[in-house]
Order: sequence, then C-alpha cells, then structure tokens
Amino acid sequence: MIVPPSEEAISEAVKLLQEGSVIGLPTETVYGLAASIYSDDGLKKIYSLKKRPKSNPLIVHTHSVDGVLSVGEPRSSKFFLSLSEFWPGALTLVIPAKSNLSPLITAGHESVAVRIPAHPVALTLLDELGSPVAAPSANKSTAVSPTEAIHVIEELGENIFVIDGGPCSVGLESTIISLLEETPKILRHGGIPAEEIAEKLSIPLKSLLSEGKGKAPGQEKLHYAPKTPLSILPKDFSPSGNIGILTFTMSPPKGVKSKRIDNPKHFYVTLREFDKLGLDRIYIEEPKDSGLGRALRERIHKASH
Ligand code: TXA
Ligand code: MG
Repeated sequence: MIVPPSEEAISEAVKLLQEGSVIGLPTETVYGLAASIYSDDGLKKIYSLKKRPKSNPLIVHTHSVDGVLSVGEPRSSKFFLSLSEFWPGALTLVIPAKSNLSPLITAGHESVAVRIPAHPVALTLLDELGSPVAAPSANKSTAVSPTEAIHVIEELGENIFVIDGGPCSVGLESTIISLLEETPKILRHGGIPAEEIAEKLSIPLKSLLSEGKGKAPGQEKLHYAPKTPLSILPKDFSPSGNIGILTFTMSPPKGVKSKRIDNPKHFYVTLREFDKLGLDRIYIEEPKDSGLGRALRERIHKASH
C-alpha cells in the first residue's frame, strides 16, 4: 500500500514499527525496508521478505549524532567528527557496535553500519519514533534497488506500508566507510564520491581506496542485478538482435532499444524499465572511474551476469 507522506501516514508508520511490523521508508539514496532496532520480530521480517542471507548485517538509520552514538562507539573521534559533517546524507559509517545491539542487526559482527538519511520524511519519522530503525534497501536480495515507492511494492508485494517520498534525489546507495582500522577505508562506493571524502579527511584518495581487512559482508557476489542478463558494452560493438543498450556519455545507437542515462539518479529506474522489455541481454557502457562513476561501475560489475 502506497500512502502520501501526511502526518497521519507518519504516525501510522511509527505505530507499525512499534508493533514489530516493517514499512517502506523513503530516503534520498534508495527506499529502505525499515524495522525498529528494538523489535526482533520486525528485524526477522526484513530477512524473510528480502530473502536476505542471515550473514548480511543491516544498516541502522537515525536522526541525530546522539542516535548514532546510541548504537555504536567510534574509536577515532577525529575521523568520525569530520565525516559526520556529511550527515544528514548518503554516507554510512561502520563503527564498533554497542554490545546490547541485536545480533539480527550486526549479523554477529562487532561493528555496526549507521547513517543519518537526508530525506525530510525519514527524519520526521525517526524523530517521532524516538529511536533508530534498521533499513536495508527495499528490494529482494541481489535485485535492483528501489528509487520510487512503486518499486518497493513491485519487489516485496502490495502488503507493505510504503510512504511515498517521491523519486530518490541521489538514487544510488550510500557510500560505506569503515572506521574500524587506523585509517578510513571505503567498503562500498555510493552517493558521496570518494574524492569528496578524501578531501574532507585530508588523506590521499589512494589510502581511502586501498583494501582494508574488512569488506562489507553483503558486497561479494551478484548484486543490484536485473533479471535480464547484463553485460558491459564492448568497444566497437555492432548492435543487432533483441538486445538493449544503455549509455552514459555516448549517444544511444539506432536500430535497437537504447537509452542514455543522463543522471546517476536514473540508473536503477532505467535498469528496471529495460528489465520489463523482454530483451535477451542488456549492454551498458562502463562509466569512468571517478566521482559517482565509481559507484555506477561497482554496481554494474556486480550486476553483470
Ligand atoms: O543508502 C543506503 O545505504 C540504503 C538506504 C536504505 O539507506 N541502504 C542500503 O542497505 O543500501 P543494504 O542493506 O542494501 O546495504 C548495506 C550494506 C550491505 O552490503 C551490508 O553487508 C553492509 O552494508 N553492512 C551492514 N552492516 C555492516 C557492518 N557492520 N560492516 C560492514 N558492512 C556492513
Ligand atoms: Mg541493497
């Protein structure tokens, strides 16, 4: 059920969360499937609805730095304080978890991933609830992330109470940074480009990008993938047959179904659109390795099959 973001809808969502239900939560990155961090029933529903492996921990969302400090304890206040300037925003920090946090959130790790989202509806809801929620992207495990309320219903069914916050303004998941080591490491590229983060921290980009000990547990295998097989568009490709072509910089070729993605925020919605065309394969131009191009590349590589 999709409801407009009225005061009544937010109160209803708060009630559902308190009762141990899940809701579709608009954020600026992608829509989340949210449950109260204090409801193991709600948290279990997230795993079962998404068909998510129990080994893949959940991101916590809260409306204030105090909320962040209620679930985790950053070791280095220097990096934490600089990075918290990106909040509210598309940045998730992995910090040591408070020991009383549900293992359904941490998946048994000693760390927690947490962010303050920049969507007014999410912030109002979190404020009214008065405590954090856990919210992975509201798609089936390995599938394309939802950037509009209707996508949540398409992924998870009519029964989910989804607050319509409009199309996501960033349209790519948050950047995840681990603060578990001496220097910050990027675990997942996302809505805030690595270059901006390196600049804020006054550390070399190379250090931020270099592989740390930890990886985001859910980032290894097939991910973000449409049902239609997806491949990187080869150089000098002559398109023919029942295929689709998506580009970022090149003009889309004639003769086959094709489209240029003019803005990273339209990446997922365009994949979703092309996935409905009954194509044999979708080919996609590989974006450049800088700025939001890094987040797009990472997703395309994991979605290719
Ligand atoms: O933008 C976002 O981050 C969206 C919106 C809804 O906020 N959420 C999102 O959640 O992308 P999800 O579950 O689709 O991706 C979260 C990623 C997963 O790959 C998970 O493995 C990783 O974060 N993660 C969660 N807790 C972690 C932890 N303690 N250490 C390392 N990675 C963690
Ligand atoms: Mg996801």
